[in-house]
Order: sequence, then C-alpha cells, then structure tokens
Amino acid sequence: MTLPSDDPFSLSRLFHLNSEPWLNEDAYRAGPYLQSFRSHPDAPRMPLPATAPLQVEALAAARRSVRAFRPDPMPLATLAALLRTGYGLTGPDPMEQGGRFLRRSVPSAGGTYPLDIYALVARVEGLTPGIYHFDAMGEALELLRAGAWRHEAAPVFYTWPYVVDAPVILCLVATFARTQSKYGPRGYRYILLEAGHAAQNLCLGAVELGLASLCMGGFRDTALNRMLGLPQPDQGVVYTLALGAAA
Ligand SMILES: Cc1cc2nc3c(=O)[nH]c(=O)nc-3n(C[C@H](O)[C@H](O)[C@H](O)COP(=O)(O)O)c2cc1C
Repeated sequence: MTLPSDDPFSLSRLFHLNSEPWLNEDAYRAGPYLQSFRSHPDAPRMPLPATAPLQVEALAAARRSVRAFRPDPMPLATLAALLRTGYGLTGPDPMEQGGRFLRRSVPSAGGTYPLDIYALVARVEGLTPGIYHFDAMGEALELLRAGAWRHEAAPVFYTWPYVVDAPVILCLVATFARTQSKYGPRGYRYILLEAGHAAQNLCLGAVELGLASLCMGGFRDTALNRMLGLPQPDQGVVYTLALGAAA
C-alpha cells in the first residue's frame, strides 16, 4: 500500500505516532544478547592489514553504555563542549551560489539541520536546574522552565533508574518540516540518521572528556514532548542521551 508521493508527512506521522515503546519483556528474559554476524565462507578472503589506531577509533573503542552515574555536578564548560561537538555551528562556508551556509558538526540532508538539542539539567555548575534549549546560533542555553523536572522524567524514560543520578539528559528534537518539506516521506529517515550522527558526536565527545553516556530510545514520546513544551506532531524528541561521570 502506498500513499500519494506528494504528501510529505502523513506516512511518517502515522509511523511516528504509532511507535511508542514496545514492552517486550520476553526479549529481555531471553538472556544473552541475540547477535548475528554475516560471513561468506566460500568467497575469496582478503585479510585486513594491521593499522595504527586512529584517534576516533580509540574514542569509539572506549565508548560504552553506562547505567550508573555519579551525582557530581558537571562544569558548564563541559556541557558547552558537548553541545558544540554534538550539534554546534562549525563556521560559515561560502556557498557555491554566493550565499552563506552555516555548517554544523554533523552531515545533514540538504543542509536542512532538522534537530535542536534540549537539555534536562539536574546539576550543572552555574545553571539553575530546569529545562533548557541550546541556541546554536547564539551559542547560549535558553532556560525554558526553571525548577524540578525529575518527577516528570521518571515515568517517561523506560530505563530511568539507570540515569536517575545523571547531571544532564539531552533530548534531540526534530522539527520534521525542516527536512520533510524538501525530501518528503524519505526525509523522516534522514532526520533519524542525522540524530544518530549527533548522538555519536556526543558519545565520543563524552569519552574524550572522561565522561560516560547512555543513549536512550526508550522514552514515552507524548509525555516527553509535553514536558519540553513541543508543538505536536510538528516537532518531537527522536533520541535522548544521559551524560555524566560514571559511578
Ligand atoms: C537507538 C538506541 C536506543 C537505545 N535505547 C536504550 C534505552 O532506552 N535504554 C538503555 O538502557 N539502553 C539503550 N540503548 C543502549 C544499548 O542497549 C547499547 O548500546 C547496547 O547494549 C550495546 O552496548 P554498548 O553501548 O555498551 O556498546 C540504546 C541504543 C541505541 C543505539
């Protein structure tokens, strides 16, 4: 079944709104991770030569999901470095057409940059606890709502006990039309791919700063979007990450 190809939103909205977390406890009771690796035993094999580890390879090798954080406050400069690495501007580049194009720290389909980072701040030095938006252009954090948010977050995140002590949780928020008005239904895929790029930058940045991370896709969309005050369904959280020192 296909929808009209000139309808940019209906298909992805249908999927997005119908893919709240799926509680499949049997899959977790199954024990060890279910993994499979592909190989072609009959194909000619070319062993890979040894290589000196790349810097990024060392960071990637040191990254792991951490499920217990220390309740230490995070310096504001650390959060700033993470936000710049995750989705900051990386300087204007002259465009071929003669305009100016504000490049960011990740590749973006058509340079549409559909994401914004919202920060649930519990303990960051110099910041009132609350919910912030990272203004990438203005290089600032905007306090959207001061005060306690943890009581609301607890039922939102499926793995809340793992991140209860994290000083900050970042939410990658998509404004779907930024990319889908250009790429239609396929733009939805591009948005999710871009969120992966930003999340990986954040994870590797955390390793470089001696910090830990937990990427979380298990959150209740409607409740989290409401918590952030997002206009639904035009905007929505697509990925979340807890960051801080490992316990
Ligand atoms: C898209 C995505 C969603 C994830 N969601 C969760 C989550 O909600 N809670 C959690 O504890 N871990 C979550 N994880 C982390 C994975 O469980 C973890 O990456 C995996 O077990 C591999 O372990 P490693 O990250 O230590 O290499 C998620 C990972 C990805 C890529």
